[in-house]
Amino acid sequence: MSDNKRDFDKEADQWDDNPGRVKMASDVSDAIILHIPLNTSMRAMDFGCGTGLLTLRIAPLVGSIAGVDSSQGMLDVLRRKILKQKINNVTTSLIDLDKGDAPAGNYDLIVSSMTFHHLEKIVPLLKLFHECLSPGGYISVADLDPDDGLFHNDNKGVIHFGFERTEMHQAFTEAGFDRIHDVTAAEVEKPTIKNGIRRFTVFLMIGQKTKAVHF
Ligand SMILES: C[S@@+](CC[C@H](N)C(=O)[O-])C[C@H]1O[C@@H](n2cnc3c(N)ncnc32)[C@H](O)[C@@H]1O
Repeated sequence: MSDNKRDFDKEADQWDDNPGRVKMASDVSDAIILHIPLNTSMRAMDFGCGTGLLTLRIAPLVGSIAGVDSSQGMLDVLRRKILKQKINNVTTSLIDLDKGDAPAGNYDLIVSSMTFHHLEKIVPLLKLFHECLSPGGYISVADLDPDDGLFHNDNKGVIHFGFERTEMHQAFTEAGFDRIHDVTAAEVEKPTIKNGIRRFTVFLMIGQKTKAVHF
């Protein structure tokens, strides 16, 4: 593991013990449910699914959902939940972009929450997502608005200190998505090392791979 990579395997077993994380995943799933017309025939992917906090909220509302992550430890926690709760429409897949792996498949919905700030190149990944989506399919990415590097107590593995929404909107456009819009999905107040209590906001950027129009 490179020096600047966060060890998510080590954190996996305690990941869900943080109530702020659980609430954020719940708020992001509420925003997705409100703004994207989900249905039980959809094939979905949660990229950077972690322990499945978001995956398992979306699962009952779609046909199937693949939890994709580079941390085997995180995926092991999700697998245990799947087995314990006897869930039959969630799969897991180990994919590490940093090792050259690429998401593949055919989906109607791709969601991702609090993962993009750990990824170096956003546009190439969004282009891959665009290829993986069927015509009419939806993409939704939740991540921090600019946080001045204060959201995380330790910025190891954090490549982007949040994103300007205009920047993410532009990245969606470059990747080929249409009907792009954003909402505020979550708000968090927490103590920071340098600046006392601070309020952070999380956007949800939504786009669609529009159907080809034939004349
Ligand atoms: C902050 S966690 C968010 C997890 C989950 N979405 C949640 O909200 O609880 C970021 C996740 O992205 C995954 N991740 C980081 N870099 C990745 C990469 N290069 N390829 C795939 N997944 C990655 C990590 O393993 C981790 O589970």
